[in-house]
Amino acid sequence: MTFESLWADLAPVGRSSTTGGYFRQPWHSAELELRAWFREQAAARSLEVEEDVFGNLVAWWGAGSEAVLTGSHLDSVIDGGAYDGPLGIVSAFAAIDLLVERGVSPTRRLGVAAFVEEEGSRFGRACLGSRLAIGTTSWDQARELTDRDGVRLGDLIEGGSSSLLDGVGAYVELHVEQGRGLVDHDAPVGAASGIWPHGRWRYDFTGRADHAGTTRMEDRADPMLSYAMTALAANKQARLAEQRATFGRVEVRPNGTNAVPSAVTAWLDARADSEEALIELVDAISRQAGDRATRDGTAVAVTAESVSGAVAFDTTLTAAIAPDLPVLPTQAGHDAGILAAAGIPTAMLFVRNPTGVSHSPEERASTADCLAGVDALADALAGLLR
Ligand code: GLV
Ligand code: MN
Ligand code: MN
Repeated sequence: MTFESLWADLAPVGRSSTTGGYFRQPWHSAELELRAWFREQAAARSLEVEEDVFGNLVAWWGAGSEAVLTGSHLDSVIDGGAYDGPLGIVSAFAAIDLLVERGVSPTRRLGVAAFVEEEGSRFGRACLGSRLAIGTTSWDQARELTDRDGVRLGDLIEGGSSSLLDGVGAYVELHVEQGRGLVDHDAPVGAASGIWPHGRWRYDFTGRADHAGTTRMEDRADPMLSYAMTALAANKQARLAEQRATFGRVEVRPNGTNAVPSAVTAWLDARADSEEALIELVDAISRQAGDRATRDGTAVAVTAESVSGAVAFDTTLTAAIAPDLPVLPTQAGHDAGILAAAGIPTAMLFVRNPTGVSHSPEERASTADCLAGVDALADALAGLLR
C-alpha cells in the first residue's frame, strides 16, 4: 500500500467540515476509528498488535529480545492539523512496506507504537499514555483525572501497570516539524537535537459574583480582570526573556454576560530554553498574578499540572540514523521526550512544514516531503535492524 493511499484513508476521520481541522480526542469516536484502522493496517502486514491497560498500541514485526520502536500518536489537539502524530504512524507502516520491498527481514523486533492522549487534550496531561507506559506517571495519580464533562479516566479504562515497553532498546519518532527550521535549511527532512523544558500550570482566580449593572466598578472583586492582566503579563514576560508563554484555555464561571464572574480558571503553557529559565518565567508570571489579585480583591492559586524537563536526544543514535541531515532543537513536546528521559536511546526525524504552522487546521507538509520522510525512516530502521 502506498503512503498516499494510507494517508487518504485517514483524511476524513474526525475532520470538521466547518474548519477543516481535526477533533481526534482520545476514546471518542474519531480516535476509536483510528485505532481500528491501526489494527487493520497491522493485520494487513501480519503484525501482532499488543495493547496495554492504558490503550497504548504496538504492532510488532519479527521476534527477538531487544526491540526497536517507531511510531507516534493518533490523537489531535482540539481543531488540530492532520500531520501532528498520524504522520509518524502512517510513515512507520509505509517504511515497513519499503523494507519488505527491499527484502529486509527483521533481526530484532520492530514495533509501530501509537501512544494514547499525547496532546493531553482530553485529560489535561501531555504525553499521558507514554508517561503511564514508562511509569513516570502512576496510575494512582492518573485514574482521578477528569475530562471537561466530568468523566473520570479510571471509569473509562481499566488501568494498572504496563509492560509494553519492556525490552525496547531504541525509539525513533518521525514527526511533522512544528516550525520553519527545515524551510530555512532548504531540507525536506531533519533530525531533532532535543526538546525545550515546558509545562502546564492551572491558575484558579476567585472573586465574587455580582450584578453587571448595579455594582459600582470600585465595589467589585472581578477575577476576569486578574486573569486578563496575567495573560498580558505572561506575554510580556515571555517576550522579554525570549521564551514562550500562552494562555490557550479559559473557563469562566458562571459565564453569563450580565454578571461579574465568580471564578476564572486559565491554563498557562510555558516553555523555555533551560529549566532555570522556565522556573523564572513561571515565577514571574505567578508573582504578577498574585499582585494583581491583591489589587482586585480576588485570589489566585497556581497548580503545576504537567512539567517536562529538558530532553537531549541520543547523539550516537541521531548520528547513525541521520548523518547528513540538519539537526534542530524543538519547543514541542513528544512521547519521544518521555522515552528519552526514561533512558531509552531515542531520536526524532522531522518532515518539513512549509509554513511552520501547527496545532491548527492550517498545518501542512507536501507529499514529496512526506515520501522523503518515509525513505529516511526506512533507512534508519534498516540500519537499526541490521
Ligand atoms: C505537543 O504537541 C506539545 O508540544 O504541546
Ligand atoms: Mn501536538
Ligand atoms: Mn505530536
